[in-house]
Amino acid sequence: MNNFTFYNPTKIIFGKGELKQLDDLVPKESRVLVLYGGGSVKKFGTLDIVLNELKKSKRELFEFGGIEPNPKFETLMKAIEICRKEKIDFLLAVGGGSVMDGTKFISLAVSASDYFGREKDLVYSGRGVSLKSALPIGTVVTLPATGSEMNSGGVITLGKDKLSFNNILTFPQFSILDPTLTYTLPATQVANGVVDTFVHTIEQYLTYPINATFQDRTSEGILKSMLEIGKKTIDDPTNYDLRANLVWNSTMALNGLIGAGVPQDWSIHILGHELTAIFGIDHAKTLAVILPALWKIRIDKKEEKLAQYAQRVWHITTGTTREKALKAIQKTEEFFQSLGITTKLSDYGVTENQLDEVIEGLKRHKFTAISETSDLTPDIAKEIYLKSL
Ligand code: NZQ
Ligand code: ZN
Repeated sequence: MNNFTFYNPTKIIFGKGELKQLDDLVPKESRVLVLYGGGSVKKFGTLDIVLNELKKSKRELFEFGGIEPNPKFETLMKAIEICRKEKIDFLLAVGGGSVMDGTKFISLAVSASDYFGREKDLVYSGRGVSLKSALPIGTVVTLPATGSEMNSGGVITLGKDKLSFNNILTFPQFSILDPTLTYTLPATQVANGVVDTFVHTIEQYLTYPINATFQDRTSEGILKSMLEIGKKTIDDPTNYDLRANLVWNSTMALNGLIGAGVPQDWSIHILGHELTAIFGIDHAKTLAVILPALWKIRIDKKEEKLAQYAQRVWHITTGTTREKALKAIQKTEEFFQSLGITTKLSDYGVTENQLDEVIEGLKRHKFTAISETSDLTPDIAKEIYLKSL
C-alpha cells in the first residue's frame, strides 16, 4: 500500500426528514446565499422547505438560481458578484453535482483577493493554487452521483474547456442526504447516478494489484451494490431502501476513502470531460462509452485487476485470466445498457472526423500523459475514442 493522508471534515446528516436540522447547522445571524439549478428544487418543493427552515432564526437570506448542468463560469461569476456586494458569509447549495461544484468555485473565488479579475486562473492553475480562506459551504443533495457533497473537488465549464479544481478549503461543512428528495429525478438522471458511482469506484480500483485489501473489498462492495440495486432503483424510484443505498454508495465512492493508498486512473473521466465540453453529452453518459473502449485497448495493462473484478464482482470463475477479463468487459457493457445508457459514442451522432477536435482539447488541457502509469498519450486516447464509436 502507498503512503497516504486521509482527511475528510464533512459532516453527513442522512435520512428522511433531516432537512429539519438545517436551522442548527447553518450559523445563526448569517448572511446566506442559497444556490440552486434550473428550477427542479422550486418545482418539487425542496427550496420552500429549505427557506422555511432557515427563516427559523435571524438570518439574511439571498437566492441564486439558474446554475446549469456542467456549470458555466459566466453564471458563477454572477453569483460571485452578489456575494461580494451583499457580504454573504455562508453558501448553501441545493441540488446535484453541478450546483455543488459551482458553489465550491464561488466559495473560492469570493475570498481569493489575489485572483480578483482573473478568477479563471483558479481553475486553469488547478491544484497549484494556494489560498488562505473560502466561504463556508453546506449542501442539500438532490441527485446522488458525483460525491461532491463529501469531497473537495469541482468541475466547471469555461467555453469549450471543462476543467476540474480541487482545494482543501471546499469540503462542505455539512451535507444533508435525504433520499426522498431524489424521488423526483427522471429515470435517465438516476441511471447517470448509478453509472457515475460505478465509474468513480472503477477509477480508483481497476488499475494494478497493490494488495490493499480494505480498498479493494470496499470498492468491490460498492460495485456489487450498483449491480444489485442500480436497475431496481430506476424502475422503483420511491422505494426508500433502494434509493437510500444508491445515495450512500454514491457518496462513499468519491470521498477519499477507497482511493487512499492505491493507484488511481481517472482517464475515463478525463476523456469523458472532453466529450461533454464539445458535444454536451451528460457526464455519466460519456463514462459509459469510454470505459469499455478503454478497457479493450488497455487490457494488457489492466488484465490482472480485470480478472479479479471478473471473479469477485461478476463471479466469473472459469477460463484464463484474459478470458475472464474479456468476459467482465462484456458484462459491464451489458450492465450499462440495461440501465438504458448506450456504450456507443456514435449513438450521440459523433463521427470519426470530429475526433481531432477532441484530441486537440486533451492536448490544450495538457492531458498528454494520463492514467495510473502516466503513459496514456493522445495517440492512445485517439484509439480509445475510435473504439468507442
Ligand atoms: O437544474 P435543475 O432544474 O435542478 O435540474 C437538474 C439537472 O437538469 C436535475 N435534477 C437534480 N436534482 C433533481 C433534478 N430533477 C428532478 N428532481 C431532482 N431531485 O438533474 C439534472 C442534472 O443535474 P447535475 O447537477 O448536472 O447532475 P450531476 O449530479 O450528475 O452532476 C454533474 C456534474 O458534476 C461533475 C460533472 O462533471 C458535471 O459537471 N462532477 C463532479 C465531481 C465532483 N465534484 O467530485 C465528480 C464527477 O466525476 C463529475 O465530474
Ligand atoms: Zn464522475
